[in-house]
Amino acid sequence: MDLTREYVMNTYSRFPIALVKGSGVRVVDSEGREYLDFVAGIAVNSLGHCHPRVVAAIKQQAETLIHCSNLYYIEPQAHLARLLVSGTHFGKAFFCNSGAEANEAAIKLARRYTNMKFGEGRFKIISAHDSFHGRTLAAISATGQPKYQKGFEPLVPGFEHVPFNDLAALEAACTDKTCAVILEAIQGESGVHPATPEYLKGAWEICKRAGSLLIIDEVQTGLGRTGKMFAFEHYGIEPDIVTLAKSLAGGVPIGAVLARDEVAEAFGPGSHASTFGGNPLATAAAIAVLETLRDEHVIENARVMGEYLQEGLRKLAMGVPEITEVRGVGLMIGVGLVGRARDVVTEAMKNGLLTTACGDNTLRLVPPLIVTRRDIDECLSILTLALRNVFSS
Ligand SMILES: Cc1ncc(COP(=O)(O)O)c(C=O)c1O
Repeated sequence: MDLTREYVMNTYSRFPIALVKGSGVRVVDSEGREYLDFVAGIAVNSLGHCHPRVVAAIKQQAETLIHCSNLYYIEPQAHLARLLVSGTHFGKAFFCNSGAEANEAAIKLARRYTNMKFGEGRFKIISAHDSFHGRTLAAISATGQPKYQKGFEPLVPGFEHVPFNDLAALEAACTDKTCAVILEAIQGESGVHPATPEYLKGAWEICKRAGSLLIIDEVQTGLGRTGKMFAFEHYGIEPDIVTLAKSLAGGVPIGAVLARDEVAEAFGPGSHASTFGGNPLATAAAIAVLETLRDEHVIENARVMGEYLQEGLRKLAMGVPEITEVRGVGLMIGVGLVGRARDVVTEAMKNGLLTTACGDNTLRLVPPLIVTRRDIDECLSILTLALRNVFSS
């Protein structure tokens, strides 16, 4: 901790523990204390920690070829791209290393596609208030939260923000200058706020009418988190582009952009690239993740356990007036509180449960998708105690 304070730039306010190992839904700190992990690296460790199939794939690939340039063909990258797009309306994938980079690539792809199709002048990107799309300059320009932009101006030009779940505002903003609309199906970082079915469906139709692309940021919601492979499937839409990262390679850094064939063709050699993007190690890990999701019916578990956890939280809420709301889809759950969310996180941590807060009013639960009823029962009893301790003090 002292070394971190002395040598690492101070970009996180950290809890005073260091996690040193993990297995399944449990992690252990440097003092040997065990925690039930309902943070999962913030929706990263969807198969839990050190899943044997992911570990085996990483070991095997590390002993074979860790990295090579995209100047050459990369076998696991090609297999991963096929796994991601097969059974979807997407045609091709681009690989990078994080969610912000995936959104950066999606924004560049959208601009290049519309530029090639309609000529210059159609460059505007519309996003939603309270959205979160990452920390690169274009990603904070897309992010609809001024606190993440402050001090970094001038931002990338051409971004416009509209209220979330307000179709009329989106319709009014979308013009023949609009290149793309980028939305989260469920706003994660700002407190787990799902888009209404009318909103996403309507946004898709507005985009189609205006000739603008619809980009769905599934960095947090994608790959089973909501009980379906992609959250947009709940809404019956087919976005032009989707971005992924977080859980894709089980904790090995990776990001991906999937696009319809016609859109994907706007990128040609030299138009966009990444040294590490889609390298053998990360893509071999991601293949193991996707195969495990499929073979072990993990997404179905996320759906069933999501319902069980939400039901448990709603029961708990009946006895805790400080809980204002339980919301979310699948295993992406927000518990609305009158305040003191960070105190509840700290209190739960003392009792062996990791959770995160979004602001002061939301507790966010994004456990591994392999979580069981017993884990959830344990989580609920620790939370009950934590809420009682915080709100009776
Ligand atoms: C919806 C969404 N988009 C983008 C990002 C940024 O991802 P990364 O931190 O991997 O750059 C996040 C991270 O929380 C996210 O939740």
